[in-house]
Amino acid sequence: MSDVKVGFVGTGGMANAHISQVETIEEATIIAFCDIEEERAKVAADRYGGQYYTDARRLIDETEVDAIYFCLPPFAHTDIERLAAESGRHIFVEKPVSMTVDHGLSVLEAVNKNSVISGVGYQGRYQNAEIALRDYLKDKAIGMVISHRWGGIAGGADHWWRVMEKSGGMLHEQATHQVDMIRYLAGEITEVYKLSAMKINTDQPNQTIPDAEVVSLKFASGAVGQITTTCALTGGGGSMRTDFILEDHQIVQLGWGNFEIQPENFDTVEISTDPQLGIDQAFIQAIQTNNQSLIKSSYADGLQSALVSICANQSAEEGKPVAVPQVVS
Ligand SMILES: NC(=O)c1ccc[n+]([C@@H]2O[C@H](COP(=O)([O-])OP(=O)(O)OC[C@H]3O[C@@H](n4cnc5c(N)ncnc54)[C@H](O)[C@@H]3O)[C@@H](O)[C@H]2O)c1
Repeated sequence: MSDVKVGFVGTGGMANAHISQVETIEEATIIAFCDIEEERAKVAADRYGGQYYTDARRLIDETEVDAIYFCLPPFAHTDIERLAAESGRHIFVEKPVSMTVDHGLSVLEAVNKNSVISGVGYQGRYQNAEIALRDYLKDKAIGMVISHRWGGIAGGADHWWRVMEKSGGMLHEQATHQVDMIRYLAGEITEVYKLSAMKINTDQPNQTIPDAEVVSLKFASGAVGQITTTCALTGGGGSMRTDFILEDHQIVQLGWGNFEIQPENFDTVEISTDPQLGIDQAFIQAIQTNNQSLIKSSYADGLQSALVSICANQSAEEGKPVAVPQVVS
């Protein structure tokens, strides 16, 4: 196949992180940009070359892109990814891929029907430590998984992140990385129940997301778990960690890019230092070789992670546990 021609829909912070990677891939050429903020799309086109648009439909209809990156805030995932897949374009969608079950399923159906390559931005799956830990855990019984992500607020007073209808809240938007990693390492989550509070960030303008979330998890394996989030640490500080309670009475603690087994000296795991295919390299190579298996998070897999937090939010509204629909086998 000749070079993969790439377009970007959304040219904000995360798009630029992908653009700078795709730029370095010999087999890829970026030819189009779209952003509802015209100036942002134009700046990207001036810098990297290519057409620019303010309407993603025109990018789909008027360019010869083979693949489209969707780097949009959660609320901006409309029917555009579905239209892209229906037009035969390969799609890379930043997490979280959807705000609703129905929308996510409509995109998934188009991806499957049109056999396009798909990828989602859960880059933790491409890290050596996570790959080694997945291998270590694969045959072990896991009894409980406890995870937390605590920090401040992303963006300023006008940012979409702090508005519930726009971001879906911290679990859905940010701790979705923890949800995804937990699924990757401990298997599917089948039921969730979320409690939330807003007691600390009452001084924050425009914040409608909870500043504290506690989610109980039930796994297909029979294990149980919990994720907590807070964005109340606006003065600084914060942490994230996921603990796995395992057979042989041991515990594995996963941080960002590293892990530790306890008791100390109980076991050792070799973590490869070989460079892994990056998330963007994997997407482009998968398209070139028509090999979806190079991608560690397909649209279906990314949607499964989003469904966990969509159902958690639903459970908080309804005040009862909610079963998570399963879209990956
Ligand atoms: N994988 C990661 O680690 C990671 C890190 C940061 C952000 N993200 C995700 O990337 C996504 C985007 O985040 P960001 O930080 O780049 O946000 P951002 O606000 O910086 O950029 C989003 C861009 O999308 C544009 N936009 C909004 N609606 C649009 C539409 N309908 N058509 C075209 N453009 C539109 C906005 O004008 C803006 O330029 C979010 O879902 C976020 O969770 C992922």
